[in-house]
Amino acid sequence: MTTGAILLIGASRGLGLALAEAFLRLGWSVVATARSAVSPLHAMAADHPALEIETLDITDGEQIMALADRLSDRRFDCLFVNAGVADAPGSIADTPLDDFARLMTTNAWAPLQVLEALGDRVAPNGVIGVMSSGQGSIANNRGGGVDAYRASKAALNMLMRCYAARRADDSHALLLLAPGWIRTDLGGPDAPYTIEDSIPKLVEVILAQRGRPGLRYLDRDGQSVPW
Ligand SMILES: NC(=O)c1ccc[n+]([C@@H]2O[C@H](COP(=O)([O-])OP(=O)(O)OC[C@H]3O[C@@H](n4cnc5c(N)ncnc54)[C@H](OP(=O)(O)O)[C@@H]3O)[C@@H](O)[C@H]2O)c1
Repeated sequence: MTTGAILLIGASRGLGLALAEAFLRLGWSVVATARSAVSPLHAMAADHPALEIETLDITDGEQIMALADRLSDRRFDCLFVNAGVADAPGSIADTPLDDFARLMTTNAWAPLQVLEALGDRVAPNGVIGVMSSGQGSIANNRGGGVDAYRASKAALNMLMRCYAARRADDSHALLLLAPGWIRTDLGGPDAPYTIEDSIPKLVEVILAQRGRPGLRYLDRDGQSVPW
C-alpha cells in the first residue's frame, strides 16, 4: 500500500479521531483539525510524530480561509471532511429553527466551504471526500425521523453534486461516504457497528478512490447508495 498525506477535518474524537489514527498506522502523514485545544486527538499527538494538529471550527468562514493560508504551500493526497452534528432528533415539527440552521450550517454549508478553500491543495489523482450518511439518501427515506439531520446530509450531497458539476473535467475522485450506523457520541449506544470494525472498511473505500475521477456516494462496503 502506498503512503501519502491526508488533511482530515474534524478529528477530535469519534470517527475522525479513528481515521486519523488509522492513516498514521498506514504510514501516512496526517494534518488533522480540532476546534478546541484539548481533545483525544491532542492526547494522541505525543505518540505520532507524523501528526500535525490545526485548529478549526468549520462553521467559521474566516477560520477556514486562515487555515487555507497556513497550508498554502502544502499538498495532500486526500482531503476528507468528517466533522458533523446530529443533535436535533425527531420530526421537523419538533425542530427549533436555530437547531435546523446549526445542522445545515455544520453539515452542508461548512464542508463545501472547506472544499472550495482547500480542494486545490489535493494532488490531481487524489481524493476529496466528505462524510455523508445513509440518512442523506432521499430515495431510501421510507421512515422519516431525524428530519433535520437527513435534510442536512441530503443538502450536503446536493452541494457536492454542484461542486462536481462545476468541475466536469476535474481529475480528483470526489467521495460522499455513508459509513453505516456506528457507536460514537453521535451514533449512540444502540448502533450495530463499532468504530473498530468500521474504520478499516472506511479507509479501504477512501483509498480505493485514488486515481478514479468523478463523484461517488458510497457505503462502507464501497457500494453505491441511491441518491
Ligand atoms: N456515528 C454514526 O453512526 C454516523 C453515521 C453516519 C454518518 N456519520 C457522520 O460521521 C461524522 C463523524 O461522526 P461521529 O459519529 O464520529 O460523531 P462524533 O463522535 O459526535 O464526532 C463529531 C466530530 O465532528 C466535530 N465537529 C462538530 N462540529 C464541528 C465544528 N463546527 N467544527 C469542527 N468540528 C466539528 C466534533 O468536534 P468537537 O469534539 O469539537 O465537538 C467531532 O470531532 C459526522 O459527519 C456524522 O454525521 C456518523
